[in-house]
Amino acid sequence: QRPLRRLLSCPGTVAADLRREEQSSGSAETGSEDRTPKKRFSEVQNERREQAQRTVLIHCPDKINEKKFLKFLSQHGPINSHFFYESFGLYAAVEFCQKESVTSLQNITRTPSLGPEAAIPFKSRYLNLKLRNSLNQTSELSSIQCSNQSSPSSKKLYQLLCCAESVDDQLNTLLREFQLTEENTRLRYLTCSLIEDVAAAYFPDCAVRPFGSSVNSFGKLGCDLDMFLDLDEIGKFTAQKTSGNFLMEFQVKNVPSERVATQKILSVIGECLDQFGPGCVGVQRILNARCPLVRFSHQASGFQCDLTTNNRIALKSSELLYMYGALDSRVRALVFSVRCWARAHSLTSSIPGAWITNFSLTMMVIFFLQRRSPPILPTLDYLKTLADAEDKCIIEGHNCTFVGDLNRIKPSRNTETLELLLKEFFEYFGNFAFNKNSINIRQGREQNKPESSPLHIQNPFETSLNVSKNVSQSQLQKFVDLARESAWILHQEGKDRPSPSSNQPWGLAALLLPSVANNMSLSKKKKKPASERIKNLLDSIKSSGAENSTATNGR
Ligand code: GTP
Ligand code: MG
Repeated sequence: QRPLRRLLSCPGTVAADLRREEQSSGSAETGSEDRTPKKRFSEVQNERREQAQRTVLIHCPDKINEKKFLKFLSQHGPINSHFFYESFGLYAAVEFCQKESVTSLQNITRTPSLGPEAAIPFKSRYLNLKLRNSLNQTSELSSIQCSNQSSPSSKKLYQLLCCAESVDDQLNTLLREFQLTEENTRLRYLTCSLIEDVAAAYFPDCAVRPFGSSVNSFGKLGCDLDMFLDLDEIGKFTAQKTSGNFLMEFQVKNVPSERVATQKILSVIGECLDQFGPGCVGVQRILNARCPLVRFSHQASGFQCDLTTNNRIALKSSELLYMYGALDSRVRALVFSVRCWARAHSLTSSIPGAWITNFSLTMMVIFFLQRRSPPILPTLDYLKTLADAEDKCIIEGHNCTFVGDLNRIKPSRNTETLELLLKEFFEYFGNFAFNKNSINIRQGREQNKPESSPLHIQNPFETSLNVSKNVSQSQLQKFVDLARESAWILHQEGKDRPSPSSNQPWGLAALLLPSVANNMSLSKKKKKPASERIKNLLDSIKSSGAENSTATNGR
């Protein structure tokens, strides 16, 4: 891969965000939180969306003169930023300072004539650049630096982890290597914006918004792109225009239920993307699922996309996770490591099934951090008490209110290290009474399970639902066994850590190795005890165990 290129020529807000992000990932040690004011989730969403609307995506010839390319484009207006990346060809994402520049560029862009084939004309912002005379240009080529869009290989990750100075350093390294880059984030918003242009052919004023791990700060390079078609804005405009005794309504087509309306809308948008959405391939309309969706690949960005509609609660869940991720720098580091650990041991999968999801794992980490003493994260009920009138949010009868201004939440006084937290996380869930208790981040304490699913994690907004209803008893048992085994490894290691020069995986690197390998390396030293025995051994070693189980809840 070519080295990362960051060109941020205007000191805009996004550049400031990037600098802040770099600073905060650098100050990840406990107790020294970044005190710069943090932006609200909605502000970030609006800025990114507006930035994406000023951006075009250009498929470029493999060899191109960057300077001339930029000069050519700046005839349409000043360029704010650009980056190149590779995805079966060379692409450039170019952000103009003004939206008008995009229209100006589109006005000189032609629809290709393809010989015997015919093109469906569609003036999108996904363009193709051709060289009139490629021979003349090759002599002036400078090498183009591309931004990397994929996560590091396992080999590189192990090397980085083994060279780290401490377990805390390992967790922060893993975060740094896997988190979405500035460019990848931009590409996600740009892809939504391009899909929005297609959907707007049917629904002018609609918005296509990303949600899930693309925006909640827990996304890993390579994760899917969840997006939803937001038609609420269309309703809002009409509501404001009523006056006097008259009430004007649009004539609309009525269907039996909200679900049928969703299916009909997604059916036509899916058809549209399939028939003339530039770069959209493998479109599947999965309309009979619990949450109907259209799944497709966006070839140019390389993202696997899931499009749903009117999914405002999921967007609110993303905002909540974003808040938790921004409150303390240890949260994201711990979540990334737990997610990678789960993936390495096949506890999670990209195929839907009886396994734990990343979303459930994140809820478990948040819950665990609410249970520390003093707590590292506040409860959702506490965040609700800090809300003001502007934060009030009721969606489909569910109260989704919580404070949106991050700066109103006091930082935690807890100074525990990531190493300790990781070990305690595994011990906590290795001993959790899953058979009778439910995980509840709203109250920050266990509740009696209201139903018999093996794993019960209360949905924070639709409180009668269980976000981990799909998880089977055997998958839960696998999670518990691996958690105990990992707690044991970290405990043993604390006593005799291999020296960095020994080339032995240690700390987080040892935890990410497949279980079989761990068993072998352990059996060389000492025979690995079975899950129950590990639990008993840990119980007897741990003198502070009782304190943790009575840890106080939300502030
Ligand atoms: P990745 O595995 O990185 O894609 O994480 P993700 O958080 O994006 O998960 P996923 O793509 O499965 O789901 C997208 C979003 O939908 C999540 O972030 C949640 O907001 C929401 N979501 C997913 N699963 C559930 C669930 O079981 N219940 C509820 N209420 N929301 C869910
Ligand atoms: Mg996702």
